[in-house]
Amino acid sequence: ILSFPVNVVILVLLVIAFLIILHRNLLNLNDFLKQENQDTAPGMVLPFETDFLSDHKVIRSGEEIPVVITAPEERLGAAVTAMNSIYRNSKANVVFNIVTLNESVVHLRTWLSKTDLKHKIIVFDLKILTGKISTDPQKVEAVKPLTFARFFMPVFLPDAEKAIYLDDDVIVQGDIQELFDTSIKPGHAAAFSEDCDTASSKGIVRGAGNQNSYIGFLDFKKEAIKKLGMRANTCSFNPGVFVANLTEWKQQNITSQLEFWMERNAKEDLYSKTLADSITTPPMLIVFYKQHSNIDPMWHVRHLGVTGAGNRYSPQFVKAAKLLHWNGHYKPWGRSSTFSDIWDKWYIPDPTGKFHPIRRHAEEK
Ligand SMILES: *[C@@H]1O[C@H](CO)[C@@H](O)[C@H](O)[C@H]1NC(C)=O
Ligand SMILES: *[C@@H]1O[C@H](CO)[C@@H](O)[C@H](O)[C@H]1NC(C)=O
Ligand SMILES: *[C@@H]1O[C@H](CO)[C@@H](O)[C@H](O)[C@H]1NC(C)=O
Repeated sequence: ILSFPVNVVILVLLVIAFLIILHRNLLNLNDFLKQENQDTAPGMVLPFETDFLSDHKVIRSGEEIPVVITAPEERLGAAVTAMNSIYRNSKANVVFNIVTLNESVVHLRTWLSKTDLKHKIIVFDLKILTGKISTDPQKVEAVKPLTFARFFMPVFLPDAEKAIYLDDDVIVQGDIQELFDTSIKPGHAAAFSEDCDTASSKGIVRGAGNQNSYIGFLDFKKEAIKKLGMRANTCSFNPGVFVANLTEWKQQNITSQLEFWMERNAKEDLYSKTLADSITTPPMLIVFYKQHSNIDPMWHVRHLGVTGAGNRYSPQFVKAAKLLHWNGHYKPWGRSSTFSDIWDKWYIPDPTGKFHPIRRHAEEK
């Protein structure tokens, strides 16, 4: 008689506990659905934040961190967004050295006047490339001159000893000071992230010719390449992010070496036929063959612009990455890229209205 009510009480308590848990889970699910909805609801205008400046003002003094980035007219928004992500995630004395073509200077200056980014604008003189890129009309179209700017780092930064180069299709989530502090071994002019030992490399880029070794970038049947005695299966590296010792760079005449291979390629076509759009990679692979240091793989999580990137990386991993690189066809300001919500967070709208990220739901209006 006595045990009966106790059982009932326990049962009732269990049922109540169960209902509470169920209720909470439903609430969480509800939140989750709401969040999902926010990103995909048709007709929504993205809540781009524009009041970064009213955050707390950071006083930037101390050792200067020179960052070189390029800004082609059709993607000025990429450079501005990348720079903003760097600035907002660091208190370091970062100075951006933005390399652009003369035609974009006014536009860029107008845009940057709406920001607090410390910067210098460097006009890239196309004459510097004469004789070094193919004049084959079929290829000229594909040549984006500013992609070669990285070869001329010491020309842009004559006084700096150490500097960072970044492609414009990146977002930095860590403190750039950390990347700058990457140690470059004596005798090395730069540090890169290698293509096979990184977190980003697992089974990647199969579709794009499996480019994670030298053979994917260089034509090993050509005499000039054979003569170098490089191993074709050597792991390649991605020159979209690097830290350079410019003193060493100048001592080793890295720029002239790169120019030499550009000229040679213009005449003899030394690069791999399957080379996608990474035309700056082959000369760098030759010049830095077994002569470079490494950067932390989390400081170059890449291939976000390649098909299937959304399945490759978990949201947790992407969140933990210090630097995200949308190399590949799908850019985060374009229509169908993965993780573009991360990019949107750092976008500063173009005051001239010329550049705007393409968003599916904005178009469906
Ligand atoms: C650069 O552009 C400005 C106007 O945007 C023009 O006045 C100037 O002549 C250009 N300079 C060169 C070298 O083309
Ligand atoms: C850069 O290279 C020079 C010449 O080898 C060396 O003296 C210097 O310590 C290096 N600087 C850094 C920051 O690694
Ligand atoms: C770099 O170039 C200078 C002058 O052109 C030359 O004296 C020097 O030997 C070169 N150094 C290397 C390592 O090739």
